Amino acid sequence: MDYWPLFLLFIFATGQRKTVNGLFVTNIEVPEIVDYRVRVKLSCSYNMSGHKLNSVKWYKDGEEFFRYSPMTPPTFSQFHVAGVTIVRDNYFCNEKTCSIEIKDLKLSSSGAYRCEVSGDAPAFKLTSRTANMTVAALPQHEPLINGVNRTYRVNDFIVANCSSDWSSPAATLTWYINDEKATSDMVQPMQETTMTTNDGFAVRLRSLELRFVFDKHRDMMYSRDILKLKCVADINDIGFLRREKETKSYIIRDDNLRNSKLITSRNSGLKFG
Ligand SMILES: *[C@@H]1O[C@H](CO)[C@@H](O)[C@H](O)[C@H]1NC(C)=O
Ligand SMILES: *[C@@H]1O[C@H](CO)[C@@H](O)[C@H](O)[C@H]1NC(C)=O
Ligand SMILES: *[C@@H]1O[C@H](CO)[C@@H](O)[C@H](O)[C@H]1NC(C)=O
Ligand SMILES: *[C@@H]1O[C@H](CO)[C@@H](O)[C@H](O)[C@H]1NC(C)=O
Repeated sequence: MDYWPLFLLFIFATGQRKTVNGLFVTNIEVPEIVDYRVRVKLSCSYNMSGHKLNSVKWYKDGEEFFRYSPMTPPTFSQFHVAGVTIVRDNYFCNEKTCSIEIKDLKLSSSGAYRCEVSGDAPAFKLTSRTANMTVAALPQHEPLINGVNRTYRVNDFIVANCSSDWSSPAATLTWYINDEKATSDMVQPMQETTMTTNDGFAVRLRSLELRFVFDKHRDMMYSRDILKLKCVADINDIGFLRREKETKSYIIRDDNLRNSKLITSRNSGLKFG
């Protein structure tokens, strides 16, 4: 009989330990940045480690907008939160995962999304994970390149203008000459125009002008007679948001030029040189 308290303490201690180790959110999927014209899926996966699931709640900036309770029958509750419109009947929740889809994204849909999982009585253990989502007006098309000619000659002064699509956040433009990044002395100061869309996004269009003298030693790839000019538009340095446009021009080499002049001079009956 004297051993009972100790025995109970032992069970309690191991039980506590298990609870501390168990019940955790293994993964939360919330896009870091998303275009306001798309629907977005938010999903949360958890490991109950033997506990029973009591509820899964989704919050935006601390306000609950969705709740799943796997009781009989399972219930799905929605609460009004600014910027969060849940797509009807497009949620899926069980003992392992809970995903929902939201639409009609606005500026106010940006924020911290939290998935909170709670275990059953008596512990009602809570665990959660949060991810930030930024709603953006992402570029819908590649940057535009203007002013590039079909052919150039060595020592030509080349001028080209690249402009991004309207976006918020604004794109960062970079020029590449035959895959080499253009140096700062080759580009003019960046120009920017701002406007506010009907949806309240302060979108910006940027343009960057490239100006350089074509130098055969620096810019010519002797294996080819092609000049590639590429303009890259980056958004927050996020790889999959990169958009780019490339143009190709033909370089008339000195020897090509001399040959064509020779042909011309022969044909016209004049002596060359
Ligand atoms: C859940 O967590 C336990 C440890 O608490 C681990 O043994 C088990 O493999 C995990 N299950 C899954 C599906 O990840
Ligand atoms: C979300 O953004 C807030 C404020 O910008 C920042 O303090 C927090 O660390 C971010 N949370 C995550 C999970 O990135
Ligand atoms: C490119 O074409 C424009 C319009 O035809 C012309 O004015 C300009 O001189 C050309 N530039 C070069 C470097 O050939
Ligand atoms: C480049 O193009 C943009 C967009 O068409 C225009 O607003 C800008 O003035 C142009 N820049 C130059 C230097 O031509």
